[in-house]
Amino acid sequence: MADMELFEYSPEKREAERRAAELRAIIRRNDRLYYAEASPEISDAEYDRLYRELEALEAAWPELAAPDSPTRAVGNDLSEGFRKVKHAEPMLSIDDIFQQKTQDGSFGDAELIEFYDRLGKALGTALPAVEVEPKIDGVAVTLYYENGSLVYAATRGDGRTGDDITENVRTIRSVPLFLPAPCPRVLEVRGEIFMRAEAFAELNARRDREGLSAFANPRNAAAGTIKLLDAGEVAARPLDFLAHGLGAYDGSPLADAGAFAELLHALGIPVNEPLIRAETLEETRAAVRRIDSLRHTLGYGTDGAVIKLFSFPLRGELGATARAPRWAAAFKFLPEQKETTILGITIQVGRTGVLTPVAELEPVRLSGTLVSRATLHNQDEIERRDIRPGDRVLVEKAGEIIPAVIRVTHPELRPADSAPYSIHDAVGGVCPSCGEAISRIEGQVAWRCVNPACPARAASRTIHFCRREALDIESLGGGVAEALVSRGWISSPLDLFRLDAERLASLNLGTGGEPRHFGEKNAAKAMQALGRARALPLERWLTALGIPNVGVVTARDLASFHRNLAETAHSDFLRAVALLAGSIDLCRKANARARRGAKAALKRSLDALKAEMLSLAAPWKERGYLSFEMPGSAGTLRCAVGPAAAKSVVLYFESETGRRCLAALEELGINPSSPLYRERAEDAPGASPLAGKTFVLTGSFSKPRDELKREIAAAGGKAASALSRRTSFLVAGEGGGSKRDKAAALGVPMIGEEELRRMMRQN
Ligand code: IVH
Repeated sequence: MADMELFEYSPEKREAERRAAELRAIIRRNDRLYYAEASPEISDAEYDRLYRELEALEAAWPELAAPDSPTRAVGNDLSEGFRKVKHAEPMLSIDDIFQQKTQDGSFGDAELIEFYDRLGKALGTALPAVEVEPKIDGVAVTLYYENGSLVYAATRGDGRTGDDITENVRTIRSVPLFLPAPCPRVLEVRGEIFMRAEAFAELNARRDREGLSAFANPRNAAAGTIKLLDAGEVAARPLDFLAHGLGAYDGSPLADAGAFAELLHALGIPVNEPLIRAETLEETRAAVRRIDSLRHTLGYGTDGAVIKLFSFPLRGELGATARAPRWAAAFKFLPEQKETTILGITIQVGRTGVLTPVAELEPVRLSGTLVSRATLHNQDEIERRDIRPGDRVLVEKAGEIIPAVIRVTHPELRPADSAPYSIHDAVGGVCPSCGEAISRIEGQVAWRCVNPACPARAASRTIHFCRREALDIESLGGGVAEALVSRGWISSPLDLFRLDAERLASLNLGTGGEPRHFGEKNAAKAMQALGRARALPLERWLTALGIPNVGVVTARDLASFHRNLAETAHSDFLRAVALLAGSIDLCRKANARARRGAKAALKRSLDALKAEMLSLAAPWKERGYLSFEMPGSAGTLRCAVGPAAAKSVVLYFESETGRRCLAALEELGINPSSPLYRERAEDAPGASPLAGKTFVLTGSFSKPRDELKREIAAAGGKAASALSRRTSFLVAGEGGGSKRDKAAALGVPMIGEEELRRMMRQN
């Protein structure tokens, strides 16, 4: 027996087993990076190749196919910090079929023909009609509507349970919160959250201005955004939604994909288009080719076409495996890749001084455009792929939008003295713009120029300072700011306030030979704008200063906690948030270490730290500025201002730049004040009794509902129409049906009108 086993366990099988384990590990790691952290390390095409290799191995050696193999499960995007929702119907994945490389230039759709054949065989009928539509490169989401209200929105999660992202999805304009009547009692719409190419480019430009790292592609940007814990921040990012499927449903029967699309149109839910109906194999192949030719014009990332049975009853007949439905497949287009040469790597200096490496490529045509540059992101990315100037590299358009360097094709062709590329060494340790030493903050990937007077930074900081949402001095932005810096008239944005009209009018925007003066009229306008800027409120000034991690939304939040700029600059509250967040991190790390080898001393100092955290948080908690609980081992902090922003503001005003800025403002007599500032202290006597609480009404009351809603608002509460897990109370009057059940299911407490009145009278 033992001999038999040994005999069966051939070297090939052992190698297959080793490789399968290796592939599973790589795939699992990238599933996590892709779904949960939105920062995959390998391209989608590379992922697909590895996945197929694993599938082939498992098919060849069925006894090696582990039940928990990634080929048998849907990926997993569950993250900490979100409530979990059990899906009414599982959210499945979809089986991929692949376009093949061909020698003769044909389309390579053999796997499509096979799939279509399989469909016919499985149904045992004539070949069925299918629908073909673009596969959107976004984040899967489900929207659950009941009686026309959006009850919740959730991610796919592990397919059975997803993350509740309702608050974030509510900020997406293309997702209706209410449906017009008549609508189905229950309608669960499956679809994709994504970012359009244009919106993505704008977002990255804005992030650059705000000193944040750019997203690698629109999908990562969408995935990262939808998992933010701050819905206000989500609202500031341009997400979009398109529907492509049906989950739970209770309404008039739907015969097929056509009827479903019509229903969505009627309800104002945006539908993925074009949706092409194909009756035969030939029509299906043509439809897939049509989508391939269209996809560069859709404005969002697609990497394939999805083919689904048209008829809903037939879909039901075929059913699904644990992983994917049998009635659908995603035909993945070969990503267009080209080989080219990195002619050089240039370094750009952004407003906050971040040095970004950019590959200058020998131009190649790729998916419809000529590509001559690709960002290399940062030093870590360069090291991971060991990219060097002069290398032959493979470039691809990620999701067909952003050009990316995939890998070096011929490292062996490098000259013998070639060495790994270092940004620091390439610029000789100094900023290419001003020549001052660059530095790298611990824990951050970016090299930065920290010289506040760096001209590259001064010009872009001034342009930012003058933007409409900042201080709205647009006549001094753009080329004017650049001219002012390059002529040495200003070296920081605040110097603008020291210019006089006469000198400004004489500013030459042209050349020595061909002068073009700014002019008296423009100068007078700029002076007026500068005068207005002095009086603008704190949130506009906080936006204008260009503090890393502080955009328009965060600036408003900050302004609601502080009376003026001086108070923000020396804020004990922000210090507390930054310290608490740092300590939570420390606790987590210490806990992990203690678990590995429980050390009594470590535990003691941890307890001391926890006590300190509690007393640090206490006064702010009491004032209603933040919530801080320490139920378990590390503590959770909730606050309108996130820890990254808090830390960044503290660091900014402690830095040389920040101190100079404060001194200059004092000299100019500017201390912006905050109309948004409000006392919180929700539990303090005299505060609004319903503050921070959300109510949903159902049934009829002693007075019209609208009146009751007004009373709730007057007492500081919020009246919402749709129930979610975040609803504080369901106020149930006479009658009122399904909402009661829903509230019970969601764990939302139910109260009557009397109880509501009692709450309003409190305090
Ligand atoms: S239909 C149950 N249609 O791709 C699977 N899915 O990789 C039926 N996707 O989970 C899905 N565009 O989130 C379908 N036009 C489309 C799609 C699409 C993108 C996503 C979907 C699915 C994932 C599988």
